[in-house]
Parts: sequence; structure tokens; C-alpha cells
Amino acid sequence: MPTSRISRARRYLVCQPRHFDVHYAINPWMRDDAQVDTALAGRQWQTLIDAYRDHGHEVETVAPVPGLPDMVFAANSALTLAGKVFGSRFHAPQRRPESTEYETWFKAAGYDVYQPESTCEGEGDLVPAGRYILAGTGFRTTREAHAEVQEFFGVPTIGLRLVDPHFYHLDTALFVLGAPGEPEEGRESEEAAEPTLAYYPEAFSSGSREVLRRLFPNAILATRDDAMAFGLNSVSDGRHVFIAPQATGLIDQLTARGYVPVPVDLSEFHKAGGGIKCCTQEIRP
Ligand code: ARG
Repeated sequence: MPTSRISRARRYLVCQPRHFDVHYAINPWMRDDAQVDTALAGRQWQTLIDAYRDHGHEVETVAPVPGLPDMVFAANSALTLAGKVFGSRFHAPQRRPESTEYETWFKAAGYDVYQPESTCEGEGDLVPAGRYILAGTGFRTTREAHAEVQEFFGVPTIGLRLVDPHFYHLDTALFVLGAPGEPEEGRESEEAAEPTLAYYPEAFSSGSREVLRRLFPNAILATRDDAMAFGLNSVSDGRHVFIAPQATGLIDQLTARGYVPVPVDLSEFHKAGGGIKCCTQEIRP
């Protein structure tokens, strides 16, 4: 019998895709000649926002800026944890101005923002997971940035090497389903010390795969098909999992573990290499 999962209300920061398009190619999903249906993109994005609100989550918006087509990918702008904000420094020159736009929003919302010295793409590569921050590297965020993150938050930061360019950000290959300590019926207390993860093992170097296996032995392992469908670029509130409907195998695995998949199709954003999680910055109090 699957255990019953309990959701916790979240606060998300998002950016309307008014200027979203594919104008440059900085990951294997992007093509200079991509045809983006921007009206459809707008409707798909609104469906995601409505789904968050319908499930009790608070959604804040940062104003979109002309000439910054990837600004819709709010996850890359920062990592927020315990009310502290670690800002971003983008790898691609085309995206660098986004950092200031988000910093302005956070400052207006009353937060100080730490500006990283090394390349760091926020929650794209930094995933809080219980006692640790999991930190991706290999394509965007650097090892030096991981050290800055650990120093800033005082949380052990575990570097994980990504090896497949399709999964250039950690949040395309891994997500957290339920935070530890979140009540999950029928769980032993030690087990509850670690959150549940889902990830695609082949996206990682063999050493990093072994680290994940040791730290999260109960993780859900996704197939390449589900990963390529952006199934791991999902957002969980502990019970509901906002997930690409194309990730059918993973949806079945989640259901079997007692989670409630909420399919939201962001296919237009896949043309830029992004999905649900990429569009969502979680603000953690
Ligand atoms: N086109 C964007 C880039 O390559 C997509 C970012 C997706 N965001 C994410 N969190 N994975 O930078």
C-alpha cells in the first residue's frame, strides 16, 4: 500500500514569458532556427501558475525584460534557503543581465543578495536535499561556486558531476520529492532524516552516481526516456508533483510511491531546454 503524502504550501517566484523565445543556442535543446509558438507558450505557462495556485501555493512574479528571452527560467536566478539569498552569475553572456533583474526583485522584497564570484546558476544546479545542498557542475556552475555556497549557508554542499550535455543543469536530472521531517505516514524516523529523490543515474559521472546511491538509497531511478521528456525537471510540494505529461514511466513510479502527479505540458519551453522546475524559483522562508 502506498503511504499517503502530505503537501506543504510553498512560495514560488516566476517570470511571465512575455519575451520568451529561442534567439541563441547555449544547450543541445536550443536551435537558432527554432520556431516557438509564443502564444502557446504563454498559455502553457499560465496553466502551470494556475495549477500552483489551485494547490494552495503562493506565486510571486518578477517583471519580464525585453531582450532577455530566458528570463522565464526563474530557477536559475538564485538559491534561497532559510531566508538567505545566494544570487547568480551566468555562464552565457546572453543571460548575465538576468542576475541584476532578479536581485532587484529580491532586494525590493526585503532580502540581501549575495553575489557569487564564480559562475553559478541558482537552483538550476543547487538543490537543497535535507542535510545537504546537492550541487551540479560540469556545464554551468563551477566547483568554486559550490565552495561559496557551502561557506554562505553553512550547509554541507555535495558536488555532483554532470556528464551528458542534454542534462546540463542538475535540475534536469534530479529533483526532491519530499523534504525530510515532512510528515510521511508509515516512515521510520531515521529514514525520515533523508528526503526522497528521483534522478537519472546516467546523467552523472560514475563517482557521483555512487555518492547519490550511498546518500539516497531509496531514490526513484528514472529512465532516459523520462529524463529526455523533462520528467526530472519537476516540482513537488511533498504530495503533488507538477510534472511533464510526457514522462509516463516516472508518473507511474510516483503514483506507486503514493505521490499525486499533476501533469502540466510546457512543450514550447523544452525548445529552450527548460521545463516546469526551470520556470520556478522556490523562496524558502
Ligand atoms: N535556455 C536556458 C539555458 O540554457 C534554459 C535554462 C533552463 N533552466 C533550468 N533550471 N534548467 O540556460
